[in-house]
Order: sequence, then C-alpha cells, then structure tokens
Amino acid sequence: AKRIRTHGLRERKQRGERFAMLTAYDMYTAEIFDEAGVEVLLVGDSASNNVLGNETSLPVTVDELLPLTRAVARSARRALVVGDLPFGSYQGSPQQAYDTAVRFMKEGGAHAVKLEGGREMAPQIELLSRGGVPVMAHIGFTPQSEHTLGGYRVQGRGEAAERVLADAHAVEDAGAFAVVMEMVPGDVAAQVTRELGIPTIGIGAGPDCDGQVLVWQDAFGLRGGRMARFVKQYADVRTTLLDAARTYADEVRDGSFPSQEHTF
Ligand code: KIV
Ligand code: NA
Repeated sequence: AKRIRTHGLRERKQRGERFAMLTAYDMYTAEIFDEAGVEVLLVGDSASNNVLGNETSLPVTVDELLPLTRAVARSARRALVVGDLPFGSYQGSPQQAYDTAVRFMKEGGAHAVKLEGGREMAPQIELLSRGGVPVMAHIGFTPQSEHTLGGYRVQGRGEAAERVLADAHAVEDAGAFAVVMEMVPGDVAAQVTRELGIPTIGIGAGPDCDGQVLVWQDAFGLRGGRMARFVKQYADVRTTLLDAARTYADEVRDGSFPSQEHTF
C-alpha cells in the first residue's frame, strides 16, 4: 500500500472524498487501524488521559509521547502518522516549537505534527512549514487551553463564529496542511470547510468536514463512563476484555487452565 501523504489528503478534499483519522498510541492499534484503511493516525496528547492515567492532557511530556509515536510510526505501513505536540512544548516561541517538532520527526518518526491554536500560532506554523515540518492545526475547543477557555464548551457560537473563521484562515495562510476543528457548530465548520483549500477534520464539528477524528478508546468502548455527545461507540472492547479477564482468572482459580493441551 502506498503511503498517504499530506498532498493525498488535499487531493481527497478536491475530489470530494472524505477521510478518517483515529488516535493510536501503540503497535497493535496502529497495525489494526492501518490495516482497516484509516488514512491518518494521531499519536494524541490524549495519551495523557487515555494511556498514562492522568485526568487531563496537560501533564503529558515530550519524553513520554516520543516512545509512543515511535511505536505507531514503526507499525503503520500506509497511514500518515501525526505527532501531537504537548502543552508547554511549543507555545513559548516558534524556535521552541521547531525544536520540539524536530524531535517528533527524528526520534519519533512522525510524518507531521499537530499543535493547538489559531491566529496566535501563525508564527510557529510558518517556521515549521518552512523548515520541513508539515503542520496540522487544531482550533475551536483546544483541550490544552481548558483553563483559559473556561472548561469544555462549544466554540464559535453566534458572533464567536468570526473568530473560528479568522483562526482557520490564519492557519491556512501560515502553511498548515490541515486543520482539526473541535466542538464547533456544524454550520460554522461547514463554512470553514467551503472557504479553505486545506482539509478540515472534525471532532464534534458536524458532518460537513473533509475528515473526522475520534479518540479510539472512546469510539471503540475501551474507556468507561460518560462520553461526549460527539462520540459514537462502534464497539465495546471494555466488556470484551472484562469478560476475558474474568474467565481467565476464574479458570486459573478453579484449575481448568492450563489443561493438558496447554501443557508440555
Ligand atoms: O489528542 C487528541 O486525541 C486530539 C484529537 C482528539 C484531535 O487532539
Ligand atoms: Na490533542
């Protein structure tokens, strides 16, 4: 299978073909989602609260994300692998962003990086794109800014739609190859998608984006608890694993595993 590149995503948009993105943080999920034909794999900073046990995405570090990125990059044959720059690793200056992004590409094997922010991140996006790092932007609700945005809430309602549009154009003009829109009203996301030449990727942004992304533990039911309204659950991996682990433990306790066939 031929490797998907940033230009391939743009061509899909031009042809009116949608594409899929999922998070992945390890070898087997990367292998499986790649085999399933998912076009883009994101090693999200959501590893913080989906792999590493933190409550939010804020605490995860570059050093923690790099090995996960490497695992995904080694395991995906066709998908474009995007490394997510964690909180504090790029906001300080364009040079800081560049140094971090280079680590994701050289040490992590990422093909591109993602960072959160619109107009205010234009200098970072410009330096990275000029310096050989394809950048995926992320606007609307940006989880790393949870504390300045005042919690998880839809961005771009009413008059705030102008801000989302301005951010979208700013990241395109700065050189981003795609833009994630999170928790943006569907009509605003549709307008952004029409106005931009680069592909838009929605999460809680309605059906009119060029692509969609979900956190796999949400979409396939590994995580328990309440899901955001924008999540659709396609599988119940948690119940599958729970049943398997219970059966295994029961069989060990009652002596039915291992049986003769598992014994040398
Ligand atoms: O970290 C992440 O999983 C993300 C996606 C939800 C876009 O940024
Ligand atoms: Na993220």
